[in-house]
Amino acid sequence: MRHVLTLLELSAAEIDRIFIIAEDLKAKFEKGLREPILPGRVMALLFEKPSLRTRVSFESCMAHLGGATQFLGADVGWGKRESIADFAGVLGQYVDVIVCRANRHSRVEELARHAQCPVINGLTDEAHPCQALADLFTLREVCGALPGRKLAYVGDANNVARSLAVACAKLSVRLSLASPEGYALDAGFLAEILRDSPQAEIELTDDPAEAVQKADGVYTDVWTSMGQEAEEDERRRVFAPYQVNAALMSRVPRTAVFLHCLPARRGEEVTDDVIDGPQSRVLQQAANRLHAQKGLLAWLLGSQG
Ligand code: CP
Ligand code: NVA
Repeated sequence: MRHVLTLLELSAAEIDRIFIIAEDLKAKFEKGLREPILPGRVMALLFEKPSLRTRVSFESCMAHLGGATQFLGADVGWGKRESIADFAGVLGQYVDVIVCRANRHSRVEELARHAQCPVINGLTDEAHPCQALADLFTLREVCGALPGRKLAYVGDANNVARSLAVACAKLSVRLSLASPEGYALDAGFLAEILRDSPQAEIELTDDPAEAVQKADGVYTDVWTSMGQEAEEDERRRVFAPYQVNAALMSRVPRTAVFLHCLPARRGEEVTDDVIDGPQSRVLQQAANRLHAQKGLLAWLLGSQG
């Protein structure tokens, strides 16, 4: 049984396999075919934070693949009404897979330790692996073969950036991260990525103009993530020079794309002209949450692994 908590658990070959399944299922879906390859399978969605894309794309994935979902909000009281171990030991017998969005990463790790079914991280403070799968799947659609491509991430080295770094490292995409001092990728985590993927090319800078040089894609995310609302004023001040706007995009080739995991704070990390402009692929990227996750589920639960 496999869990997907950070993407470090998956090999490059496994991610490639997930993408091949996703590509096949996406092509069939676009022709109107929804093959029920996971009949009777049940997914629990255990969410402590709000979500549009993660929740709804997983619910639609399971419906398209012939399975079912149960959305479990705060009322189930995991870790409050009973211990996480007891909760996981029970829930894991009712369902085939748990997707969990939690305030603290350690809660998803604890859930995975005690559940008898696979656990997929649907976002924590440290990681957003499903987002990174969709991001690299999108870059692959746009650019073709991934090795040697370059992505620039401008902004907070948060959960989204960390998972993007793991995915880029595994798939040999060069990544340049531009963040202000104090908000850069954690050195210990970078060392862990490099131990896992020694060939990885990850560059850290505090200069967005340097990061985007010769990039095939420019990626950003909100300056203030869920749970950091108390720091919002300070973050607006610190991140102001890190906005992705027309001036920054003028430094990349016209063929380079703009990516954002969404939801976006328009006028903060990105301007309307960029996110709505011809280089933006944010809606394709959001749509690919559905397709990449179908690949992941078929690989994890089905006979296509
Ligand atoms: N990108 C993403 O995970 O969006 P949600 O928070 O809406 O799920
Ligand atoms: N970094 C953001 C991503 C939301 C999908 C957050 O954690 O709020």
